[in-house]
Parts: sequence; structure tokens; C-alpha cells
Amino acid sequence: MQVRSIGVFYGSTTGNTEEAADEITRVLCKGSDANVRAISVSGTDPSKLFEFDALVLGCPTWDDGNLQCGWERFLQRMGELQMAGKPVAFFGSGDSLCYPETFQDAQGILAAEFRRRGARLIGSWPTEGYTFNASRGVENGRFFGLALDTDDAWSLTRSRIATWSTQLLSELACLP
Ligand SMILES: Cc1cc2nc3c(=O)[nH]c(=O)nc-3n(C[C@H](O)[C@H](O)[C@H](O)COP(=O)(O)O)c2cc1C
Repeated sequence: MQVRSIGVFYGSTTGNTEEAADEITRVLCKGSDANVRAISVSGTDPSKLFEFDALVLGCPTWDDGNLQCGWERFLQRMGELQMAGKPVAFFGSGDSLCYPETFQDAQGILAAEFRRRGARLIGSWPTEGYTFNASRGVENGRFFGLALDTDDAWSLTRSRIATWSTQLLSELACLP
């Protein structure tokens, strides 16, 4: 699939997901000819999603297994907008040490929303290397997308972002 534009939509309360979104945007820009833009969901109209060929959606898990509040409001504003066939990837910020029962739940909540709307989910990520007990962000033994952990050093986050972003560009290139 010829992807001319990628929208990296994120919600972030304390800045971690925003920082990750900026880094993902930088790596995707470097690795492709696509126009890649990072956009905060706060105050953004959901119709903006249609301006991009592919979407990367970043959401931290807050309040013991919930979406970040900016995403909550964004989904409400989306109403019944459909995403038929749109390639959508997810990344999440979480904390496996403090929240091992709800680690990365937001990924699963968001993935269910976009799947219901007809999106084509891409970018799943292995659970190896993470320690947690339960997560709605896992399906068939893999995270829906990139899992970033507050407890990890930024160096690990950075290398995960690099590996995942490269994987994402390959998956997009292979789509019919
Ligand atoms: C009150 C509170 C609740 C949290 N709940 C969860 C949770 O249920 N699962 C999880 O994986 N992380 C949880 N976290 C960790 C955040 O997701 C993590 O700090 C993340 O990096 C915040 O992203 P942001 O800076 O983009 O808002 C929680 C953090 C706080 C302070």
C-alpha cells in the first residue's frame, strides 16, 4: 500500500505519551517518504482522522485500567464515525510495577473501539520482556501495539520505538 500520510494521534496527561509520539513521528519520517504528523487528541476534531492514509494512536492507561481523559472525550466526539479498512496501529504508556493487573489496558479499549468501526489493526507487539499479571491490551499473547513502560529507562523506550516503527513501515508496505 502506498502510504502518503500518517497521523500520530496521542493523548497525554503528564507528557510521557507526547514525548513518545514525537519520537515515533521522527523515526517514521526518517524511514519513509510519507508526511507524518503528531497531533494531540485534546481539542482536535475527530474528522481530522480522515486526513491520513494510516493512523498511529497513542494512549496511556490511567485510573486503574481506563483511557486517558483526552481520549475519553475524543471518542465521545467521534460518535459513530466509521474507519472502514483504515490501517491503525496503537502504542501505550503504562506502569507494570505499580499497575500489574491493568498494565496497558487502554490499548485494548482503544483497539476494540477502532475494530468495531472497521479499522484494520496492525503493529502488534510481543509480551516477552514485560512483567505483569493481566492486561486488556493483550490478544492472542501479543500486545495490540507497542507497550512503553514508565519503569523502563528511556534508552529501552527509544530502542523499542525504533524497532516497532520499522516493523510498522514494513507492515504498511505489505498491505494490498
Ligand atoms: C493515578 C494513576 C493511575 C494509573 N493507572 C495505570 C494503569 O491502570 N495501568 C497502567 O499500565 N499504568 C497506569 N498508570 C501509569 C501511567 O499510564 C504512566 O505514568 C504513563 O506514562 C502516563 O502517561 P502520560 O504522561 O502520557 O499521561 C497510572 C498512573 C497514575 C498516576
